[in-house]
Amino acid sequence: MIELQLQDKTHDESRQGEALVVEKPKTSNGRKLYIESYGCQMNFADSEIVASILMDQGFETTGNYFDADVVFINTCSIRDNAEQRVRNRLKQFESVKKSKPGMVVGVLGCMAERLKAKFLEEEHLVDVVVGPDAYRDLPQLIGRVDEGAKAVNVLLSREETYADISPVRLNSNGITAFISIMRGCDNMCSFCVVPFTRGRERSRDPFSIVAEARDLFEKGYKEVTLLGQNVDSYKWSAKGEEAAATDADKVDFAQLLAMVAEVSPELRVRFSTSHPKDITDEVLYTMGRHDNICKYIHLPVQSGNSRILELMNRTYDREWYMNRVDAIRRILPECGISTDIITGFCSETEAEHQDTLSMMDYVKYDFAYNFIYSERPGTLAARKLTDDIPEDIKKRRLSEIMDKQREHSHYQLQKMVGRTVRVLIEGFSRKSEQDYCGRSDQNAMVVFPVEPHLTPGTYADILVERCTTATLIGRSI
Ligand code: SAH
Ligand code: SF4
Ligand code: F3S
Repeated sequence: MIELQLQDKTHDESRQGEALVVEKPKTSNGRKLYIESYGCQMNFADSEIVASILMDQGFETTGNYFDADVVFINTCSIRDNAEQRVRNRLKQFESVKKSKPGMVVGVLGCMAERLKAKFLEEEHLVDVVVGPDAYRDLPQLIGRVDEGAKAVNVLLSREETYADISPVRLNSNGITAFISIMRGCDNMCSFCVVPFTRGRERSRDPFSIVAEARDLFEKGYKEVTLLGQNVDSYKWSAKGEEAAATDADKVDFAQLLAMVAEVSPELRVRFSTSHPKDITDEVLYTMGRHDNICKYIHLPVQSGNSRILELMNRTYDREWYMNRVDAIRRILPECGISTDIITGFCSETEAEHQDTLSMMDYVKYDFAYNFIYSERPGTLAARKLTDDIPEDIKKRRLSEIMDKQREHSHYQLQKMVGRTVRVLIEGFSRKSEQDYCGRSDQNAMVVFPVEPHLTPGTYADILVERCTTATLIGRSI
C-alpha cells in the first residue's frame, strides 16, 4: 500500500521504529531495556513514560536490542500495513531471543490492546502484552515473566493520564518536545480503531501540563506540542461535582493554550490534532492573541463529500468544514493548514472523489497526509459497510490526491519567497553541516547557511530566497 507522509513531526515516517538511546537510572538493577515505537506521536510519548517507569525500577535503556534484557515494541493498529510492519519486526527479534533465552519480549500499545491474549498464541516469542493504560503494571508483569509465566494486562481506564510521571526525554534534540494533554477518543469515526485501542477520552490536569511545559522551558526547550486525538475537546474540571459546578474550576482547550503560552513568550506552542466539529473561534482568537502560539492547524478533513463524511460518522459536512476554514482565514490570515485524507472509503464514487479534490482546491493545504482506506476489524465500517473500492482504483485516486497536494504545497511555499520568516533553529540540516534547519511559525521546514552568531535552540529571522517542493531556503538577516 502506498502512503504519502510529508514533513510533520506528529506523522514523521523517519521516526517509525526509532529506538531509545542510553539513559542510566539512579540505582541500577543491572538490566537493560530496549524500546521501539510505531504509530502516532502519542505512542512515542508513551514510550517515554514506559522508560520512566522502568528506570525507576533500575533499568538502563539501550539503543541496541542485541544488548537488552527486556525488548519492548510499542505498536500501532491504525492501518493493516502498520500491523504488518510490527509482525515483521518481531520475526527479527525472534532470532536474537533464540540465542538469549532469558530475554523478555513485550508488545505494548494499540496492537496489544486490539489483539490482547491472542498475541501470545499468534507470536510465540512474545512474553508480555500490555495495553496503553496499564503501563504502571509493567514492573509486576515483568516479574511474572521472570518467574516463567506469560503476562497480559490490557485493562483500559477512565482516569489514567500518567499526569504524575515525568517522561524520560530520550532521543530528544533538547529544543522541541511533546506533551500529552489527554488520552483516548470519544468520537466514533466509523473507519477508526483508536476508540477501541485507547479507550474513553480523558483530559489531564492542566496544572501538571503547565508544570511540564515550565520544566521543559527551564531545561532549555523552546517548543512544546500539545498532543491529543482531539485537542479541541480538552475539558478538565476540579474533582467533585460541587467544585466543578463553578466556571472557575473548569479549563477548556482555549484556556489551556493560553496557560501554556504564558509560561514564556520565548516558548513556542503547537498542538495536534484538531477536530473540525470542535475547533472554536475562541481557540482561533487565543492563537491570535499570543505571538508564541504557532499559526498552524492540523485539521483532518478525511473526505470532501458530505455523504462520505456521514458514512464515516465524522459529524460534520462539507459546508461545516469550509466554514471552519473560512473562520481560520478570517481570524488568522497567516495560518498554515494541513489535513489527513482517506481515499477509497466504502462506496466512494468518482464524483465523491472529485469533491475531495475540489475541497483541496478550496483550502490549498500546506501539507496533507493521504491514506488508502484500510478496513479495521471491529470498527463500525467493518461491521456495517463493504470495503468495495478495488485496490487499483484506490491507488489511482490516491495518486491524484498526491499530485494535487504536491502542487498546493509548492504554491504555499512559493508564496513565502521574498519574505522573512522567524525560525527556531533545531540543528544541522539532514544533508549538510554547512546548513541549519528549523521550522517557521507555519511549520514549513527552512534551511539556511550556518553563521557564527546562530545557535540551535535560538530564533533567527530568515529571508526566504527560494524553495524546493518541501523546503524553504534562505539566509539569516
Ligand atoms: N484523531 C485524529 C486522527 C488520528 S489517526 C483525527 O480525528 O483527525 C490519523 C489518521 O489516520 C486519520 O486522520 C485518518 O486519516 C487515518 N486513518 C485512520 N483510520 C484509518 C483507516 N482505517 N484507513 C486508512 N486511514 C485511516
Ligand atoms: Fe479516530 Fe475519529 Fe477519534 Fe480521530 S476523532 S482518533 S479518527 S475516532
Ligand atoms: Fe496508531 Fe494507536 Fe496512534 S492505532 S495512530 S498508535 S493511537
